[in-house]
Amino acid sequence: MDEYQLMIPGPIQLAPEVLCEMGRQIVPHYGREWISFYNETLELLKQIFQTTGDVYIIPGSGSAGLDAAIGSVLGETDKLLVLSNGFFGERMASIGKSYKKNTTVLQTPVTQPFMPSQLADTLDKDREITAVAACHCESSSGLLNPIQDLAAVCQEREVLLILDAVSSLGGINLKMDEWGIGICVSASQKCLEGPPGLGLVAVSKHAWKTIEPKKTPGWYLNLHVWKQFSKDWADWHPYPVTMAVPAVRALRRGIGLILNEGLTKRFNRHKEMSKLLRSKLSELGFLPVFPSAIASPTVIAFNGRPDLSAEEVVLHLEEEHRIKIAYGMGVFEGKAFRIGNMGPQATQDHIICLSHAIEELINKRVRTAKGDNL
Ligand SMILES: Cc1ncc(COP(=O)(O)O)c(C=O)c1O
Repeated sequence: MDEYQLMIPGPIQLAPEVLCEMGRQIVPHYGREWISFYNETLELLKQIFQTTGDVYIIPGSGSAGLDAAIGSVLGETDKLLVLSNGFFGERMASIGKSYKKNTTVLQTPVTQPFMPSQLADTLDKDREITAVAACHCESSSGLLNPIQDLAAVCQEREVLLILDAVSSLGGINLKMDEWGIGICVSASQKCLEGPPGLGLVAVSKHAWKTIEPKKTPGWYLNLHVWKQFSKDWADWHPYPVTMAVPAVRALRRGIGLILNEGLTKRFNRHKEMSKLLRSKLSELGFLPVFPSAIASPTVIAFNGRPDLSAEEVVLHLEEEHRIKIAYGMGVFEGKAFRIGNMGPQATQDHIICLSHAIEELINKRVRTAKGDNL
């Protein structure tokens, strides 16, 4: 399969040095040398999560991380509230319901972020709710939920917040400990500049205090099991399974790039590039689905034009330029297209190249229309 220039909302294309790590010979996933490398990797990841808690790297994907986070921290008497305003909110609701019958779902239209007052009302009306699961960037639409404010509501009521930060961590500022996020889940293949294949779960020290005494089912995706191995086998194999060595090495290179760039500079770059992308495409008549105040800088959705559908844009970029962007999902299917503005994709070169390719389609259409009228 020939290469594309990827501008989808993950996975992203890897930097050459990250890619090189994937081709290196396998080393054992245990032993002194590997453990020192692995533990350093966890420390670097903690800087990105902005936590002093624990980080677990689970071979799998972002959904494996979410499954572990939602499935293994709720005991018999817990009740989960899932905030859903899109496809990935629904996914967390499905995971929640698969473990606990008393999972409840609060929905807003897919065009509206959750308001802190709405969450506060729900929690105040139902005191049985002990945990909330929410999505930071809803990648199906690019809607950004106001996580800092939602976390404050949970913190005031001592309710555990489980956050899906799969398409935001490493691209948007996210202060896990300071904001009071109990469990934060991400994945290797988006703003963290790594290959697909690793789910990442960070658990704050505070969250462990409530989670620790609970007995929960399962083994592979059970955070209690991961914690136990991280203690019992700390000095040679601090996890229960064979670690995905090439993926971890590549991720380590990716997070090295992130930390070398510096978090503040990186978050600003993503913001600046999202502004550029929004303005370039608006000039071409493709309006962003959301105003910037509620839009993620990492996944941006644009409406098709009356004379040029979202689908035509996606197909033109793919067929004529081998640039891959994504279709709209759910209610945006056929109406919008989505662009990933993540890591090495979030550059002026990528955006200019993309907008020229779309402009070419517009010019072609104008020429065809003129030809038709002759
Ligand atoms: C917000 C969000 N949550 C969860 C997932 C699922 O992650 P994965 O496909 O790695 O299992 C994705 C993937 O795109 C996502 O964007």
